Amino acid sequence: MRNIRTSLIVSVVLVAAAYGGMHWAFDTTRPLSDSPQIKRNSLKTTTDKPNAASLSHAAPPDAVQVVSNPTSLEVLVNKDFALPANYTPPDLVDPNVPFIFSGKSEKRLMRKPAAEALEQMFAAAKRDGIYLSGVSAYRAYATQKWLFDDYAKQDGYPAANRYSALPGESEHETGLAIDVSGSTGQYAVTDAFANTKEATWLAKHAYKFGFIIRYPKGKEAITGYKYEPWHLRYVGQEVAEVMTKKGMTLEEYLDKTPV
Ligand code: DAL
Ligand code: ZN
Repeated sequence: MRNIRTSLIVSVVLVAAAYGGMHWAFDTTRPLSDSPQIKRNSLKTTTDKPNAASLSHAAPPDAVQVVSNPTSLEVLVNKDFALPANYTPPDLVDPNVPFIFSGKSEKRLMRKPAAEALEQMFAAAKRDGIYLSGVSAYRAYATQKWLFDDYAKQDGYPAANRYSALPGESEHETGLAIDVSGSTGQYAVTDAFANTKEATWLAKHAYKFGFIIRYPKGKEAITGYKYEPWHLRYVGQEVAEVMTKKGMTLEEYLDKTPV
């Protein structure tokens, strides 16, 4: 009798615990930060801005300069030079090239001169048997903020800021930058993209259309970012040719390397 009562109590407790767990798991009203995954991550990561000195030449927030030439095709946007608040590029258009996703989206947009050069570059690549696709071009400040915050939550602020820019500090907000991949989207925005024929073609030919590989290998101390063979920045043909032939970053070309 006693055994039966004990098993009854144990069963009731087990059923209640299972119900409670299921209820928690399917309750979509709870904030995301309550999930066990995020809680576990938050033990080792933080989105608080750490001491700027611990970051790759990131300027303290009050030392970041706001650029006076945001619409220039040669504008420098990085951890030291930010776009003005609420900047929206004046001539965003939807380039006629394939993207790895379908449907209308902010991230298809580029400024007109960059979009036209992109169309020509994709067509030239195709003639060489290289099929390129866009991954992500323009991003509004709010989009960049959402993205960076998400990365910082996953990897912690310092690690995130080696591959993702703070809002206001991303070239994607200029409408002059685009992440590119092969047409299948395999290896898009991953280290493995560096070893693809598409990356090789871009490194060799992009300058002819006015684009540079903005974050070259071995230049993190200057650009502030890890190697990104997929991130192309439009600067115009003449500048792109000089920079590419001399192996210069935009910081070096404009004589604005970090101190
Ligand atoms: N991935 C580059 C640095 C950006 O976030 O703009
Ligand atoms: Zn990019």
